[in-house]
Amino acid sequence: MSRYTIETADSAGFCFGVRRAVDIAEQTAKNSGRCYTLGPLIHNDNEITRLKKLGVFPVDSPDGLSADDTLIIRSHGVSKAVIEHIAELKLNCIDATCPFVAKIHRIVSEAKGGVIIAGDPDHPEVKGIVGHCADIDSVTVIRDADELEKAFESQIFNRQNALTMVAQTTFNSSKWQSCKQVAKKHYTNIAIFDTICSATAERQSETEALAKRCVLMVTVGGKNSSNTTKLAQISQKHCPVIFTENGSDIDKAAVLGLLPSQGGTVGITAGASTPAYIIKEVHRIMSEILNDEGLDFMAEVDKTFKKVYIGNRVKALVVAVNKNEAVVDLGTKHSGYIPASELSQDPNAAPSDVVKVGDEIEAIVTAINDAEGVVTLSKKKVDSVLGVEKLAAAMEANETLEGEVSSVVKGGVIIISNGTRVFIPASQTGVPKDGKLEELLKKTVPFKVIEVTEARGRVVGSIRQAKKEANDAAKAKFWESIEVGQKFTGEVKSIESYGVFVDLGGVDGMVHSSELTWSRIKHPREIVKIGDKLDVYVKSFDPEKKRVSLGCKKDEDNPWIKFTAEYNEGDVVDVTVVSITPFGAFAQIIPGVDGLIHISQISTERINNVAQVLSVGDEVKVKIIEINEEQNRVSLSIRALAEEAPAEEAEEAEEAPAEEAAEDAE
Ligand code: F3S
Repeated sequence: MSRYTIETADSAGFCFGVRRAVDIAEQTAKNSGRCYTLGPLIHNDNEITRLKKLGVFPVDSPDGLSADDTLIIRSHGVSKAVIEHIAELKLNCIDATCPFVAKIHRIVSEAKGGVIIAGDPDHPEVKGIVGHCADIDSVTVIRDADELEKAFESQIFNRQNALTMVAQTTFNSSKWQSCKQVAKKHYTNIAIFDTICSATAERQSETEALAKRCVLMVTVGGKNSSNTTKLAQISQKHCPVIFTENGSDIDKAAVLGLLPSQGGTVGITAGASTPAYIIKEVHRIMSEILNDEGLDFMAEVDKTFKKVYIGNRVKALVVAVNKNEAVVDLGTKHSGYIPASELSQDPNAAPSDVVKVGDEIEAIVTAINDAEGVVTLSKKKVDSVLGVEKLAAAMEANETLEGEVSSVVKGGVIIISNGTRVFIPASQTGVPKDGKLEELLKKTVPFKVIEVTEARGRVVGSIRQAKKEANDAAKAKFWESIEVGQKFTGEVKSIESYGVFVDLGGVDGMVHSSELTWSRIKHPREIVKIGDKLDVYVKSFDPEKKRVSLGCKKDEDNPWIKFTAEYNEGDVVDVTVVSITPFGAFAQIIPGVDGLIHISQISTERINNVAQVLSVGDEVKVKIIEINEEQNRVSLSIRALAEEAPAEEAEEAEEAPAEEAAEDAE
């Protein structure tokens, strides 16, 4: 066994922003044959050479390009002035600025007063940030806490103004802490934004932790890459460092000269712009050098690089979400990508609708590019497998599920449930044959799973069955709990000449016409229409025959009660004739109470035909001669009034001579 082991930092290699820019460039070159990047896409000559072979060429300025050319802005970003200049040249421009850098652009463009940028003033990212500040004259770039201290001492900041401080994304995190302390000491109200990219901070702290337990560190990356240089500087504080761009310049004798005889761990770290295949190559070279010491090269490589295979179901941590994909950390050296189309079964779902940064998810590996250290995954495949299992269990348990109708397809609709497409055949949607399935779109509906073919991941559901079961359950509950007198508010479903049918929640009850209103009606349509809501109560019910008789009239509206409270036998009232019969005429006393003027009570003279004397609509004065409260009947008489009239006149005639005699006596 060798006295030496090799350990590679997990965070070594492409960061999200660089990976994204490289992907965009590769895709653009693939689509249009050739494209340009404003400056080298990444600080790694090997990678630049590889990209050139694919048709990606760096240019120093957009000025030499023609209107048909496509120019990619790299992950560092550029100033506002450069963007405006590109627009003036009318170039096809694709902005691959890392979202974390773009966030700093937004902060400084909205900042009021002065802006401090902690970073390297010559770095393109910092130049770009400066170029996005609202007032470029009030920007100060400092390299470290000492420079910031001096800036405060020289009183270049106006205490009346607001002050904002940001950091270059790859700024050294311990230097940033010192800068923050100095800033807070001098300016309590300063707005400080922690804009160091966590990828950088993680890489730096992991490198430092690794360097502390190593006898030698190998830093891999472009010597012109600031973040790689910083990794070398951090490592140097703890052990000797070999800084290599691609491993070809590693000198075996120099390595062996740096190694202590007692053995130990050799660490490998790499900057954000170092492709995985270069890290692997350096690992191979170092293993060969140390092989003299008995290292099993391939075994060590395998140990350091956690393996993934196509079809593996792996756990992944979401580290970034953008409009086209989710970027995940697999805990391996690979960069993991889940394209939007592989995140969800719902074609309308945006990546941010499905996952968020920090989510731990499961995904299936669908493609591996070992040379570039890129793994493509599918979340929807795992969701689908898990989903089909859950849906099969739901079918087994006869569960009713809920889901949103996401699309209309040939022969039915699709509901996405548990990350799985559930097909609902048109006949199972509950939509009538002449209805439109589109009416279900975006609606959340109940459904039952009626068929699962796990091997094919095929699930069929039925909205109709779920609704029928819900209706049956509601009906059963209704018949269990129904009581005479129970009140409901129901919708009028149909109207017949003898009454109306009211939906009480799955069960229809009937209100007979006579129970609809206290007033006299010829047809229920005179007072209700389909769809009306009626307050009803249960008069009687028959669970066997599934019949419910309902009442609608309220006692407080009972006109007979009102009548008997206000009228007495002997009262003289004005009435309106409402119907004529052979035995007399019915006349309305108040709405809902009619009295009978019997043929014998119409006149003092004998009458053979009522219609010859009275007509419907006639208004006549009558006397109430009888109130039968038991039978709710009222007898009226015109004759009684006529017979009383001569007597009254006679009384008046008798009283008049007496009064005259009295007057004469006076
Ligand atoms: Fe972006 Fe961070 Fe890389 S800022 S370019 S993801 S180091």
